Amino acid sequence: MQLVPEYRADVKRVERFNFVARMTHWGHTVTFILCLLTGLVLFLDSADWLAVIFGGFSGAGLVHRIAAVTLTIFLVIFVIFDFKGIVDWVKDLLRFGKNDIIFVMKFPLEFLGFPVKMPPQTRFNGGEKGNSMLTPTSVILLVLSGYIMWFPAIFPAGLVRVCYPIHDIAMVLATFMVCMHGYLGSFHPGSGESFWGMWKGTVRDDWAQHHHPIWYEETYGDKADKDAE
Ligand code: HEM
Ligand code: HEM
Repeated sequence: MQLVPEYRADVKRVERFNFVARMTHWGHTVTFILCLLTGLVLFLDSADWLAVIFGGFSGAGLVHRIAAVTLTIFLVIFVIFDFKGIVDWVKDLLRFGKNDIIFVMKFPLEFLGFPVKMPPQTRFNGGEKGNSMLTPTSVILLVLSGYIMWFPAIFPAGLVRVCYPIHDIAMVLATFMVCMHGYLGSFHPGSGESFWGMWKGTVRDDWAQHHHPIWYEETYGDKADKDAE
């Protein structure tokens, strides 16, 4: 397995994610993983070894709640301090079209290492657009159902009951997506450069032109220059 490609400071680079987007992304990554590990202690009967790490079942419950509140704070910071970034993100998702469908259909071949010519992509490719819809939706369901389960006295009993399966299903879906996403955003040959976009904020100029030509042209290419005039 290839590790993350080397960070090249000696070549032209372009900005992909600002500081707030990066800080909140890694903040919710750490808190998501903590919620997952502690949640599994409560979810699985056979996770005794995990329970030991978190100081038993009550310790896991406490760490789960602390991580959950911290995750919520990162989401709130993201919404308050990068609202424009979120609007631009949603606008890009609404551009989902033929090129994205072709990308998603061809992606399994690319994933297996076959040489595939992909149609030009906008800021987020077809797979990233899918991830941008499924993972945040699951996380929002986790947050809403989690607080309702946490404070059952102030919600109707039927709603509290239904939140348990919702929390579990959203956990399974989000975990599946995050496993694929974490691999594609780091070790996967070809897309690994995107890791530096989320870690240091910039990606190689040639990589951006190759992987996201529509976004590149609109943001850094001739079209961006014309729009700025
Ligand atoms: C704001 C976010 C969250 C809140 C407020 C929250 C809250 C809760 C609460 C109150 C419980 C019940 C704990 C108990 O019975 O002692 C719980 C259980 C659980 N949580 Fe969360 N949680 C959140 C996020 C997450 C995330 C991100 C994951 C996983 C990715 C997760 C996975 C689980 C699992 C697997 C359980 C066990 C459910 C069961 O026993 O059926 N939670 N959570
Ligand atoms: C496990 C480690 C993780 C790694 C290595 C990782 C890596 C990345 C990278 C490199 C990007 C930017 C991709 C681009 O250039 O567009 C990204 C975007 C994103 N990440 Fe993560 N991430 C991780 C965990 C998470 C978690 C836990 C969540 C949510 C629960 C998440 C949600 C997102 C979303 C919604 C995007 C924007 C859509 C996309 O590009 O797919 N990530 N991540």
